[in-house]
Amino acid sequence: MSTDSFLTISDLSAGYGDARVLHGVNLSVGRGEICAILGPNGAGKTTLLRALSGAVWTRGSVRLDGAGLARRSPDAIARRGVAHVPEGRGTFMPLTVEENLRLGAFTRRGRGEVEADLDRIHGYFPVLKTRLRQVAGSLSGGEQQMLAIGRALMSRPRLLLLDEPSLGLAPLVTRELFRIVRTINEQERTTVVVVEQNAHLALDIAQQAHVLESGRIVLSGSADEIRADEQVAQSYLGYRV
Ligand SMILES: Nc1ncnc2c1ncn2[C@@H]1O[C@H](COP(=O)(O)OP(=O)(O)OP(=O)(O)O)[C@@H](O)[C@H]1O
Ligand SMILES: [Mg+2]
Repeated sequence: MSTDSFLTISDLSAGYGDARVLHGVNLSVGRGEICAILGPNGAGKTTLLRALSGAVWTRGSVRLDGAGLARRSPDAIARRGVAHVPEGRGTFMPLTVEENLRLGAFTRRGRGEVEADLDRIHGYFPVLKTRLRQVAGSLSGGEQQMLAIGRALMSRPRLLLLDEPSLGLAPLVTRELFRIVRTINEQERTTVVVVEQNAHLALDIAQQAHVLESGRIVLSGSADEIRADEQVAQSYLGYRV
């Protein structure tokens, strides 16, 4: 485990009703790092992010900067600086871009701060500024993902959880999105946990990566180590080494 662990997950189990999906997950993410979660469909990647944001039942411990998050409400976890961009984005389709962004500031007070943050988001995603009055449902897939991340950033998160940001997007748009995520991470020192099917892209921006299989971490290492692992390459990266 990293000595300066910002997010520490210990013996975490989680699931839905009687169905246990995660079985004793241990992992830690250093302050300001990007951590990639890889693994096949149904491995429990989404469930892991849901466990971190309080959306499913959990057993075990989750600590963010030393403070316990496990079994707190989603609202309490959000107020402690965790922002979750869910699979499928979770923007409010009938609301405009601006309304969606302002909703992201719900954990904050102070009008001036919110206005400054809108400017900040427009800096990362200039296209959103030209779409402020447009309803989210009429945005392109890439713009919707940008809006979802922009909305999450409105809460000035200390931990950003991204679930399959590349889903359904063209490669060029995905690359641009990952470039922006890295810029946000560098400029704001936001710690990021990203679940991603496009393992190559995720490993390009991550320092650490973990492979989840059937609710258990089966491999952990630096992004370089995971990329170099032959078995992982065959199973998840789609090529032979
Ligand atoms: N709301 C739910 N109720 C019951 N079981 C669920 C629910 N959501 C997910 N599951 C089950 O939990 C397991 C893990 O699902 P999860 O969505 O976490 O996987 P994943 O790794 O994100 O997969 P994918 O790559 O397809 O997104 C699956 O067996 C799934 O059927
Ligand atoms: Mg998923």
